[in-house]
Amino acid sequence: MTWRASVLTLFPEMFPGPLGCSLAGRALERGIWSLAAVDIRAFAADKHRTVDDTPFGGGAGMVMRPDVLDAALASVADERPMLVMTPRGRPLTQAVARRLADGPGVALLCGRYEGIDERVIAARGLEEISIGDYVLSGGEPAALVLLDACVRLLPGVMGAAASAEEESFAAGLLEYPHYTRPAEWRGHRVPEVLLSGHHAEVAAWRRREAERITRERRPDLWAARASASRAGAVATVPGAL
Ligand SMILES: C[S@@+](CC[C@H](N)C(=O)[O-])C[C@H]1O[C@@H](n2cnc3c(N)ncnc32)[C@H](O)[C@@H]1O
Repeated sequence: MTWRASVLTLFPEMFPGPLGCSLAGRALERGIWSLAAVDIRAFAADKHRTVDDTPFGGGAGMVMRPDVLDAALASVADERPMLVMTPRGRPLTQAVARRLADGPGVALLCGRYEGIDERVIAARGLEEISIGDYVLSGGEPAALVLLDACVRLLPGVMGAAASAEEESFAAGLLEYPHYTRPAEWRGHRVPEVLLSGHHAEVAAWRRREAERITRERRPDLWAARASASRAGAVATVPGAL
């Protein structure tokens, strides 16, 4: 069954954009997923096609109107989760991408200007998602990021060689280092264990490296993993084949 994405945007020409290339683009051509870019402006009621207005209470910038957004959302409403991209949303994580990829698809609302009238977020029960602690000029790049993270998890998108189970974050750890030919480059040799042919030793080395890198670079992930471990909920480790 096709995983269906609808993106509500003032800039439909931004889609599929980078998602028309490589893995996601081929999957789009093969019908593993579909993408509809819906022009919010088409739902404006006046002759000037107005989608925004000044904020009540004053202040800088413009706010996207709830009536226009509600009509646009109604045009795509079905069993799919409805999301709005916003810096104050729940952080996009691999677990969120996995949950969405396991469902029927998504409807994504992209904000512009100062943001979106709060009432339409509440009325439609939109799930607010952020792609990081920085401010973009619009929700479209965030929607592209979210869709990319979901689409590559759909069955048949990644080749058999690539395993989502061994990637960064899959087990609450960052990934171990990779090496390929030549075995020696600019005087640097590949770690000997990787040339040894001992699968168990390779797996143990990769596990240690994944743990070391996570501890050094992401103490937050390391601490979360430690508490999950105490609760008996730690998944398999990347590289522990
Ligand atoms: C200029 S931003 C609005 C920022 C808003 N006034 C604030 O301070 O949070 C316009 C739109 O870009 C999108 N956006 C900006 N940063 C984002 C982020 N980190 N994650 C997801 N969407 C983002 C949202 O859709 C937002 O409505």
